[in-house]
Amino acid sequence: MTTHKLAVIPGDGIGPEVTAEALKVLEAASPVQFEKTTYDLGAERYLRTGEVLPQSVLDEVRTQDAIMLGAVGGKPNDPNLPPGILERGLLLKLRFELDHYVNLRPSKLFPGAVSPLSDAVLGKGEIDFVVVREGTEGLYTGNGGAMRVGTPHEVATEVSINTAFGVERVVRDAFNRAQRRPAKLLTLVHKTNVLVNAGGVWWRIVQEVAKEFPEVTVDYLHIDAVMIFMVTDPARFDVIVTDNIFGDIITDLAAAITGGIGLAASGNVNPDRTTPSMFEPVHGSAPDIAGQQKADPTAAILSAALLLDHLGYSDAAARIDAAVLKDLETRTGTRSTAEIGDAITSLI
Ligand code: NAD
Ligand code: IPM
Ligand code: MN
Repeated sequence: MTTHKLAVIPGDGIGPEVTAEALKVLEAASPVQFEKTTYDLGAERYLRTGEVLPQSVLDEVRTQDAIMLGAVGGKPNDPNLPPGILERGLLLKLRFELDHYVNLRPSKLFPGAVSPLSDAVLGKGEIDFVVVREGTEGLYTGNGGAMRVGTPHEVATEVSINTAFGVERVVRDAFNRAQRRPAKLLTLVHKTNVLVNAGGVWWRIVQEVAKEFPEVTVDYLHIDAVMIFMVTDPARFDVIVTDNIFGDIITDLAAAITGGIGLAASGNVNPDRTTPSMFEPVHGSAPDIAGQQKADPTAAILSAALLLDHLGYSDAAARIDAAVLKDLETRTGTRSTAEIGDAITSLI
């Protein structure tokens, strides 16, 4: 039987709780075996040892076939945990080092999932789009600095990096995805009316790559207008391509309108397959409900489906999606994290 090496990073807060359920479902659905290595990374390790992501661990993770991550990040305002230390030093470091330039975030309103949108909005059509979020550049690169910190003359900068190389490869990936979907519609989201430099390169590259995809219709929206349409007419979206920060914001809203953050899955993908891709829920460590079996593991479970799909097991991925769909259709009452995981496993 084929065996794949899987790195498991349960992380912090609800991360270990939802990851346990995702692994149950992954193993029930998978036609192949996973040789798992669990890595103890996150707030607890940092607080215990001062280590965030040792080089030796990164080197080892690099040799795996895929990574499943729960969530990282400690309790807000923990005086021992400087802001961003885990987010930048662990999560973003993995995304950057492993060149996860496509942050793939599908948004679909499954029947049975409860959307806060009105029937009038839902009646406009199916909500089924995918956000292709750039994962290695933009405002996330840590390019900037602070001067005269704590004085009335403090100056702080965060510079957005947008390279032609980085924009083109993610835009091409988004066009390829749009080409394979029935609506074949690609919406570039930016703020070209203000961010003229970064917006300029995104706009130009989309126009250039569009010539290679004559069947794909290209649309453009400013990020602020996307916030409107996401709640008034989300059926208008098919594939959205955007930069790192806009993609981050859009996908929390997209989660909220498609049944909640507990259902939103993601993949940090290296389409060139030179490194392992990493699959994780869109949500964070949710310190407010951690350790109470209150978290919905569905987002982590759907992320496991994305993992299987990425490795080429699309039938197994579809089995997970179908099991989640069935579970959502019959959801009643309050269930624990493990009860939801068990229910979905039994439907595989
Ligand atoms: P969050 O996503 O952790 O939580 C936002 C809200 O959604 C909370 O009320 C939480 O209880 C709820 N929620 C999240 N996941 C849920 C689930 N599966 N089921 C039910 N409810 C769920 O976002 P936050 O509060 O802004 O961040 C908390 C920590 O997580 C921070 O340290 C942040 O940096 C980190 N974070 C990590 C990731 C990641 O690892 N990929 C993503 C986002 C935030
Ligand atoms: C996400 C998270 C991360 C991001 C943070 C925790 C670095 O919000 O995965 O959406 O901004 O990408
Ligand atoms: Mn986010």
